Amino acid sequence: MRSLIDILDFTTEELDQLISVANDIIANPQKYSEKCKGKKLATLFFEPSTRTRLSFEAAMYELGGNVLGFSEANSSSAAKGESVADTAKTVSCYADIIAMRHPKEGAPYVASLNASIPVINAGDGGHNHPTQTLADLLTIYREKGGFNNLTIGFCGDLKFGRTVHSLINALARYSGIKVVLISPKELMLPGYVKTDVLEKNNISYTETTDLEEVMPQLDILYMTRVQRERFFNEEDYLRLKDSYVLTPDKLNEAKSDLSIMHPLPRVNEISVAIDDDPRACYFKQVLNGKYMRMALILKLLEV
Ligand code: CP
Repeated sequence: MRSLIDILDFTTEELDQLISVANDIIANPQKYSEKCKGKKLATLFFEPSTRTRLSFEAAMYELGGNVLGFSEANSSSAAKGESVADTAKTVSCYADIIAMRHPKEGAPYVASLNASIPVINAGDGGHNHPTQTLADLLTIYREKGGFNNLTIGFCGDLKFGRTVHSLINALARYSGIKVVLISPKELMLPGYVKTDVLEKNNISYTETTDLEEVMPQLDILYMTRVQRERFFNEEDYLRLKDSYVLTPDKLNEAKSDLSIMHPLPRVNEISVAIDDDPRACYFKQVLNGKYMRMALILKLLEV
């Protein structure tokens, strides 16, 4: 039985296979409409979510399965002090697969050690968000035709942005990748991601605070929200929250085939004036997330 806790739980070949299945689902949705008939997905969300929870639920419904779960910790027995381990054991009695989001890093891993069914990490604290990475990979594949030799700029909160950490881990396994890290000093990519992922895989990377300076180099610009919920004090958040606001004028020097990505939710990082620019891909990511979660559920349930 497999779970997905970290994107590195899957080989590059497995990621490519998921992308291939997702593309087939997009082309032939009817073929998949009853694949999970009689199966149940439990969505255990101890932290707020719109896209991840609803796309998991839509994915399971479109596979012909059913969904149960909760969308906030206070409506579960966690509010009475139940542990993640006991929650996982309990839900294993009712469902066939779990998608769990939790504010504590490692909580879905603990769940996977105690559940008797596959567990999917739907975001754990500031650590990882592997299914957002699946959505991102399908988007990059469909926009760029592959992953090799791309220059990717990550901009904003690279410290707490778990989607950034997971995507860097996934991309580090392709060749010719160049990473440009754009953030305020206080929100730089954690040292362990630089040493354990970028340096270990000989990925070329640069760090800057100036988005416009590096814009002409980029094939992909991955914007992120400053993660208010991870800050220790509101004052720091307020000082840093608008460090980068992408407006049409800032794209003057960008490539004509730049892909602008964002895991969403957006607060103020991308002007709505950019939404109609053909280079804006963030709502494509939202839809691609559903298809990749469908492919993932099929894989983990061995359907
Ligand atoms: N991208 C993402 O995880 O969005 P939600 O927080 O709405 O699930």
